[in-house]
Amino acid sequence: MEKGRIYIETYGCQMNVNDSEVMLSILHDAGYVRTMDMNDADIILVNTCAIRDNAEQRIHGRLEQFRLQKQRRGNVIVGVTGCMAERLKDKLLDNHIVDLVAGPDAYRDLPRMIEATTPDSPQINVLLSHEETYADIIPERMDRNGVSAYISIMRGCNNVCSYCVVPYTRGAERSRDPRTIIREAEDIVAKGYREVCLLGQNVDSYLWEDPETADRNMNFAQLLEAVAKVSPDLRVRFSTSHPKDISDEVIYTMAMYSNICRHIHLPVQSGSNAMLEKMRRKYTREWYLERVQKIRSVIPDCGITTDVIAGFCGETEEDHRDTLSLMEKVGFDSAFMFQYSERPGTLAARKYKDDVPEEVKTRRLNEIIALQNRLSLQSNEREIGRTHRVLIEGVSKKNADELFGRASNNKVCVFPAGGHHIGEYVDVEVVSCTSATLLSRLR
Ligand code: 5AD
Ligand code: SF4
Repeated sequence: MEKGRIYIETYGCQMNVNDSEVMLSILHDAGYVRTMDMNDADIILVNTCAIRDNAEQRIHGRLEQFRLQKQRRGNVIVGVTGCMAERLKDKLLDNHIVDLVAGPDAYRDLPRMIEATTPDSPQINVLLSHEETYADIIPERMDRNGVSAYISIMRGCNNVCSYCVVPYTRGAERSRDPRTIIREAEDIVAKGYREVCLLGQNVDSYLWEDPETADRNMNFAQLLEAVAKVSPDLRVRFSTSHPKDISDEVIYTMAMYSNICRHIHLPVQSGSNAMLEKMRRKYTREWYLERVQKIRSVIPDCGITTDVIAGFCGETEEDHRDTLSLMEKVGFDSAFMFQYSERPGTLAARKYKDDVPEEVKTRRLNEIIALQNRLSLQSNEREIGRTHRVLIEGVSKKNADELFGRASNNKVCVFPAGGHHIGEYVDVEVVSCTSATLLSRLR
């Protein structure tokens, strides 16, 4: 019997998208069905992100809109799940919009919590676990292209980057049993998927220590190889790599398997050693540059992308210039770039003053963005004349006669459909580009 209709909205990273899929699977098994229409829902879930203050502000704004839903239809349950639920806990109940608060390790408890929720008894479960990996749950895929799926290989994070709230919202690091990962990869292949992205906050520290036999112990390079072997038609991506942990073994494994995509997302955060030290990143500028050189020497065509934070505590103009010069030296293919946002409870919030004025942060961020646009364009211009094997992911938004997909190095190619379909591999030749896209033709 159908117990109710769930509408779910997801904010934040790929891990969060996968978590929403895990929630849907758990709720489905308990008798709930998904609806894409908020007006039709009995339960509205917002799976939230807490990484920067503006992410949280957006969600608070959204909650105000849910207040209207509740006013119009008194019986709808509003639940906040994920990172913001973990960070704000029962404070989220203060506004009387939210009826249910579930942290990232509480999703198995959702069916019980929903049943127990009444206007007078809001439900909250924000317990963090040392074991939960949802290993046995096959996520209910939310994507609609049926081409690319996420598999979480670990949860939580044991690093203490001083700016970052994630270790507090997602708890301690734990790796998932590799047999369940392989099973999930086989399942998506059977369902017709062509690409998998292995997700973790720091995939390079994946380590399965089997409780029964050490023969089954596995590190990330070994896991990557095992997933690559599931099917030669399944492309394998992974994210995120930590510069301090990415090993030669991982780089060599990538080189050995043509279905492991030639792309590494390697967040640098800053090019200044003083800032890296204060951020507790546990590597130096020199170490980072050496890792990039190693990657390029083994996999010359590897796409390298990054994350950068502008205006961290005490950042001087010289520190900022170090970031620009590192970006230029590496020549990143693309980057996610942010202004530092102080997060309550983090080491930086406790120890350092958020002392770079707002307008200086903004100006530095703009310089970083302008530089990256130039680097992305240069990197794309080098692609002109090259051929790429592309996995078709969808129809171009700008032109219904064109398709798009990503090359192994993660660059987006757009090309005339020519009778091809989503989910196929095609070879294309790059003819021109913008800083974001490779305009191509079929080979
Ligand atoms: N302020 C700004 N950016 C942050 N990130 C993480 N924490 C913060 C913060 N407090 C960025 C980092 C990270 C990415 C996911 O978000 O660059 O790699
Ligand atoms: Fe993902 Fe971090 Fe945002 Fe949580 S806080 S959703 S882990 S980006």
